[in-house]
Parts: sequence; C-alpha cells; structure tokens
Amino acid sequence: MKTRRTFIKEFGGIAAVTCCGAGMVTLLEGCTSVKSIQGSWENKRLKVSLAEMGDDKFAIIRFDKLPAPIFLSKNNEKSRAFLMLCTHNECELKATGTYLYCPCHGSEFSSTGKVLKPPAEDNLKEYPVTADNTTIYIELN
Ligand code: FES
Repeated sequence: MKTRRTFIKEFGGIAAVTCCGAGMVTLLEGCTSVKSIQGSWENKRLKVSLAEMGDDKFAIIRFDKLPAPIFLSKNNEKSRAFLMLCTHNECELKATGTYLYCPCHGSEFSSTGKVLKPPAEDNLKEYPVTADNTTIYIELN
C-alpha cells in the first residue's frame, strides 16, 4: 500500500515531467526570434522601412507613443498590423515566429490577430496598413 508521501513523490514527478514536456514544446516554438524595428512617425502614420524588414515575414515595431509594440505581418498581397496588447487584461504580448502569447494568463493569438486560446475572447486591435516600394505605413488613427 502506498503512503500519501510515496504517492505524491511518484505521481507528482510524473506530473512535473508532463508539464515540463508540454512547456518544452512551447519554449521551443517560442525560440523563433522576431526582429524588432524602431518605427518613425510621419504624416500621422507609423513608418517602417522595407529594407529593415528584409525577407522576414514578421516584425515587432516599437514606437514610444503606443502602449505596446505593433506586430507587423508582411505579405506581398497585404500586410497587417496588430497592437501587442492582450484583449483580456492589457498585458503586453510576446511574439514567437508563428503566434503571440500573453505572459499574464496564457492567452494565445494567431499571427492574424485571432484568439487561439482563452481567457482572452476578443481578437487583437488591428490597424490599417498601406505600402509603397520602400516603406510600410501603419495608420494609427
Ligand atoms: S492579460 Fe492576457 S490572458 Fe490575461
């Protein structure tokens, strides 16, 4: 017969391994780095140089007048920009190569701003994006 202490020792260890295993997947996915770029302000728009983006599909655009950075998803057809502020309780999100996650309560969002995992219920705030041959413009108004 197992004592309470033996039970906790055995099953607690299994639980810890399981948790670490699941966490490991998240950590590995989270290892993909996303480039961080300082945006500049011009004509009421946040401006990002395409040369700085390079071939990267995603970038974090920092601009000190915003409550959080912008997650920019670059696409030949249509680029999209999302405020990296969790819609659950306004924690700043972290970006991986494929999705955004909230360090406060664990919500996850796709690179297109959709909620993937609660407790957040609303998609991320999106800003209109335009571009020319050299620059991406994010309309913040
Ligand atoms: S503030 Fe992001 S999940 Fe709660």
